[in-house]
Formats: sequence, C-alpha cells, structure tokens
Amino acid sequence: MAGDHDKLPARPGFMGWLNKRLPVDAFLKDHLTDYYAPKNFNFWYFFGSLALLVLVMQLLTGIFLTMHYKVGEMTAFDSVEYIMREVPYGWLLRYLHSTGASAFFIVVYLHMFRAFLYGSYKQPRELLWLFGMVIYLALMAEAFMGYVLPWGNMSFWGAQVIVNLFGTIPVVGPGLVEWIRGDYGIADATLNRFFSLHVVAVPLVLLLLVTLHLVALHEVGSNNPDGVEIKGKKGANGKPLDGIPFHPYYTLKDIVGVGVFLMLFCVVVFFVPTFGGIFLEHANFDMANPMSTPDHIAPVWYFTPFYAILRAVPDQQLGALAMALSLVCLVLVPWLDRSPVKSTRYRGWIWKTALALFVISFIGLGYIGLKAPSPLFTLMGRVFSVMYFAFFVLMPWYTKIDPVKPVPERVTYEKH
Ligand code: HEM
Repeated sequence: MAGDHDKLPARPGFMGWLNKRLPVDAFLKDHLTDYYAPKNFNFWYFFGSLALLVLVMQLLTGIFLTMHYKVGEMTAFDSVEYIMREVPYGWLLRYLHSTGASAFFIVVYLHMFRAFLYGSYKQPRELLWLFGMVIYLALMAEAFMGYVLPWGNMSFWGAQVIVNLFGTIPVVGPGLVEWIRGDYGIADATLNRFFSLHVVAVPLVLLLLVTLHLVALHEVGSNNPDGVEIKGKKGANGKPLDGIPFHPYYTLKDIVGVGVFLMLFCVVVFFVPTFGGIFLEHANFDMANPMSTPDHIAPVWYFTPFYAILRAVPDQQLGALAMALSLVCLVLVPWLDRSPVKSTRYRGWIWKTALALFVISFIGLGYIGLKAPSPLFTLMGRVFSVMYFAFFVLMPWYTKIDPVKPVPERVTYEKH
C-alpha cells in the first residue's frame, strides 16, 4: 500500500539510489511479495499468467517476422515463403507465431470459462470483466488482420466475407465497407492498412488494456474457487487470513503451468504446426486469387462458433445482427447473473445444467462452423444457436430460482 513505503528498509548502493528516483521495491512489494492472493487457487488459475506469456511470445516473434515480411499484394505471399525456406529458423518463427495465435485463444477461452465457473465477473469485478471483453474483441481484430497478411487464398476470401459483414449495417454499411477496404475490393490498400494495424496499433491497445485489466484486478483482488471474498476476514497483521503472498507462492505455481504449457505448445509447433488445417488452413498455402474461391470458406477455429451463428440465420442481415448480439451477451453477463452465490460449487442444479448446455452449444457451434453447410449441420446450428442465446436471455430468471447451497465463511482448503 502506498502509505507503507516509508517502512521499506533503505537499500545501499545502486538499488538505494534507484528507489529514491523510481519506486521499484515499492512496486514489487505492492504487487508481488506483499500482494495477498487467495490460498486456494487451482488449475483454472493458470490461464491468466499463460495469456501474458503468449502475449509476450506473439510480440517477440512478431517483431522478427516483421523484419523479413514484405507487405504488398505482389510481395507478401512470396516473403512468407522466403521466411519459411530461406531465413534461418524462419519456419520456427512463423510456426511459433501462427501456433501462438491459436494457443492465445485456447488459453483465453479457458480463462473466460473459469470466470463462469466461479462467478469471477460478479460484483466487485464487473470492470475487470469488461476490460477482459474489450481485450477479447481486440484480440479477435488482431487475429483476423494477422491472418490476412500472408496473402493466401483463405486470407483473401476470409477478409472478403468478414469485411462484407459490415455492409449489412443499415444506411452506412456499404460506405463503411469501402472505407475499411480503401478500395472497391480487398486489395493492396487493405493489406497495407491491416499490416499497420496488426503490427502497431492493436498490439499497443492490447498492452494498454492488459495493464488496465491487471490494475483493476489488483484493486479488487482475485476471486477464487469458493467465491468467498478473502478481504472480509483479516488477521491481526491486517493481512487476509485466507491469503498468501503472490511471490513466491504463485510465481512458483505459475512456472509449473508455464512448463506444462510449453511442452504441449512445442509438440504442436514441431510435429503438427498446421494442426491438420485447423490452425493454418490448407487453402492458405495458395496465393490470393480473386478469380478462384476456395472450396469452402471458413474462418480459423476460434471464430467458428460465431460464424456458425451467422450461418444459422437465413437472412444475412439478421445473421450478422445475431452474431454481434452473441458477443454483446457476453459483455452483459455480470448484470444478467442474479445469483446470490458466485461459485458453481455452491450453486444448484439449474445453473450447473445451464452452464453445461452452454458449453455444449459453444463447442457444437465451433464444430459446425468448421464444416461445409449441410441440412443436418444447418439444423444443428440453429438448435445450438437457440441454446447459446437461451443461456444468456433466461439467465436473470434461472439464476434467481436456482436452489443454492450455503457458502462457507472461509475458503475451503486441504493441506497437501
Ligand atoms: C491478453 C489477454 C488476457 C490476459 C493477459 C489476462 C491476464 C489476467 C491475469 C494475469 C489474471 C490474474 C490471474 C488469473 O486469475 O488467472 C486475470 C484475471 C481475470 N481475467 Fe484476464 N486476461 C486476459 C483476458 C481476459 C478476458 C478475455 C477475460 C474475460 C472476458 C478476462 C477476465 C478475467 C477475470 C474475470 C479475472 C479475475 C478472475 C478471478 O479472480 O477469479 N481476462 N487476467
């Protein structure tokens, strides 16, 4: 806490000099050694630090890729081939970055699911959730524009489909599409601006948002698997009885997560970098060709749940609206959930069933969005879309009537 800084022991030498000019020790104390986090964090609490790791990895590999990539419709595709074949370890840089994009979404989806499991978006963490949602939207924009850069055929046609979605907005739509593209079709101008946004603007926004996300987190403190506020029960020393210093306890725990994650990540990078066409689609190994549409245009897997909602609605304009609303629902969740209890551990069967059905619908939609349309998939897409929206629309009602269990006063914790 800011007032305690006077009590920090004066340090000799360089650190003493530095601390008088920059509050390094005070910062480390406030946010690591004297920052108390609940002692019952579990597996689900690995993903925040993993998201940070992947963010840093994407920034670093991105910097080196940019040294060799040549933006422009005549040069982009060839420069990526050059990176893959000629630049020393260029293949590794590219596969780290492309696999990193998918890993980012896997980690972020698990991170978001944890919030549903333990009600982490509920009061007082609504703003933390909102920052998270803006991060998620920025991440989607970042991934979409990054996918256009290699100027493969799926880059081109994917961009065509996604940018055209803005055309469904009444009145301003068509003008907006032209403004985004900077031309009458997806062209050199589009590629240039996506490059600029992907490499400079959106990463800066992401860094700022992640900082705000963490500042907001440290202001209210972490939730935990019991959904009990640890700030409510403090010991004589003024520290939460159910809290432990973030460093060394959670820095050490997070390193275990990082180790396991990197092992899995390396298996993909070195053995299945395209992941059977799911992480890098086959059509993207052909150069962009406005005269030849890929057999089946599908976005990368992390967008397919929303793409399936778009396709489930016969009218394109309404489909685009449904897709936008499916994201708005996520933003509103702190205010839709009326349960007096945070953690699923102490919620009743109604919430547990609703959450399970929501997960099934999200994964189901993701699967259908990857597949070419068929009557069966269309029907399934509609059923899953209704399930997806029902989870949110009915939430204020079923979270109120859900038979919840009593929440303990203190976190539950078994010594290992
Ligand atoms: C670049 C992406 C992100 C990074 C680097 C990041 C980082 C973090 C970190 C380090 C934590 C604390 C550790 C933890 O609880 O796991 C955290 C907590 C949290 N994040 Fe994120 N986050 C990201 C995206 C998101 C998104 C997309 C959402 C939701 C829309 C979100 C919602 C939350 C919530 C609700 C918490 C508090 C959880 C709790 O205390 O139970 N975050 N985040």
